[in-house]
Amino acid sequence: MKIPAKGKNRDDLFSTLTDYRKGDNSWQDGRTWAYVFDPGEDVASVIKQAYTMFLSDNALDPTEFRSALRLENEVVAMCASHLGGGPKTVGNFTSGGTESIILAVKTARDHARKHKPNLGVPEIVVPSTAHAAFHKAVHYLGMKAVVTPVDHTTFKADVAAMREAITDNTVMLVASAVSYPHGVVDPVEEIAALAAERGILCHVDGCMGGFVLPYFRRLGADVPAFDLSVPGVTSISMDLHKFAYAAKGASVVLYRDSELRKHQFFTCASWAGYTMINATVQSSKSVGPLAAAWAVLNYVGDEGYLEFARQLLDATRKIVGGIREIDGLRVLGEPDMNLVAFASDEINVFHLIDEMNSRGWYIQPQLGHADSPPNVHLTIAPSNTRWVEALLKDLRECVDKVRGAKTGPLVAMAQQALAAIPDPNAIDGSMLKQLLAMAGISGGGLPERKADINELLNLLPPAFKERLLLEFMSDLFTPPSEGQAS
Ligand SMILES: Cc1ncc(COP(=O)(O)O)c(C=O)c1O
Repeated sequence: MKIPAKGKNRDDLFSTLTDYRKGDNSWQDGRTWAYVFDPGEDVASVIKQAYTMFLSDNALDPTEFRSALRLENEVVAMCASHLGGGPKTVGNFTSGGTESIILAVKTARDHARKHKPNLGVPEIVVPSTAHAAFHKAVHYLGMKAVVTPVDHTTFKADVAAMREAITDNTVMLVASAVSYPHGVVDPVEEIAALAAERGILCHVDGCMGGFVLPYFRRLGADVPAFDLSVPGVTSISMDLHKFAYAAKGASVVLYRDSELRKHQFFTCASWAGYTMINATVQSSKSVGPLAAAWAVLNYVGDEGYLEFARQLLDATRKIVGGIREIDGLRVLGEPDMNLVAFASDEINVFHLIDEMNSRGWYIQPQLGHADSPPNVHLTIAPSNTRWVEALLKDLRECVDKVRGAKTGPLVAMAQQALAAIPDPNAIDGSMLKQLLAMAGISGGGLPERKADINELLNLLPPAFKERLLLEFMSDLFTPPSEGQAS
């Protein structure tokens, strides 16, 4: 494919774009229980207006784009006050939870390098339920993640195991508030106290829960302490593009003081161009997401967010109660916020998901990992709340429908192949492609029904899964061929 010789007209262009979207997830109807945090048309229109107003401004240089600096400092101040920060709290606006986490991990690494001259490969201790972004961070930063188990009924971090995992190279302990898989808050007070006792840093991943948990507490829910007011917590991340409903590309990372935050920055005067001082990973960046985040915080306001939270808490209680009444399903742990995971000892949840999704829902599979069985994940957003009763009704019907559903032949075949090749690195790409084709995955597409694929992935050890997913993703990102017109 080539850049078209002549530009296309506007109408054709947008009709093509509309066409491209046809196969996408139809979240606009409110029946998608993941990915999207839709606050409704009125709030969305304010976000869009602020975003496009600042679309072309560049936050690369806060001395030239003074408004970007002002917006960022105001957003950080609002977030710090929301999360128990004090007068010394500082922070930055980032592109998302992953970037906030990468920056917090880099800060811990460089802080330790300065203070511990004999440091080996720096390590962070992460419970098995902590977000994959921590694994990505250590991968990028040449560090190591030491994974510890969680309690097998509450799915909260096991503090004794974290204590055991600390070595001379440990630079940071991680706690989640909440963890994505089960929506629970780790024992942050105990983890932070342990970190303080050992003279290391403690990061709280509040990407998912940081914004909504304080509102749940104000509404009477029993929310454990988790923020910067907890002694020993040295940094916290919170996404605004989740339950603050900002446009995607909006998160903050906050630190107890500016001395610690200095390890986050990157400065470079050793080249021929402009002097580069980056607070975050991105260098040139649109001010759009920041302006949209500032706008939504100011437009919805504290009372508006409390009202959204009231709807979310009410929907969560109905869903948890409703699922507990369905014979054969069990809720995993006691969700501390509007994220719910449920499993079954009687039916195959992957078939249940296929059945539900064939009725127009999108509910998400979570594979079994460590003490967490295969399960269904629901993230409850404002646009979902009107669908609670309909979801429970369909769940009841679909559970009955999939009782006795059989495992496909693919799983048995994969088991045999696995027994023959125990080392994932010994498999070449073409064998993996064959395995994917056997599962009905070729040309980048996934079959409508994915239970067999999920079952297959569920039984593979993580290293095997990672090899297979890499192969799949690499195929997916294949440019259209030379002769193909746009
Ligand atoms: C607890 C938690 N941390 C971090 C992240 C990563 O956030 P992002 O997808 O914005 O990079 C997520 C995303 O869902 C999350 O739930």
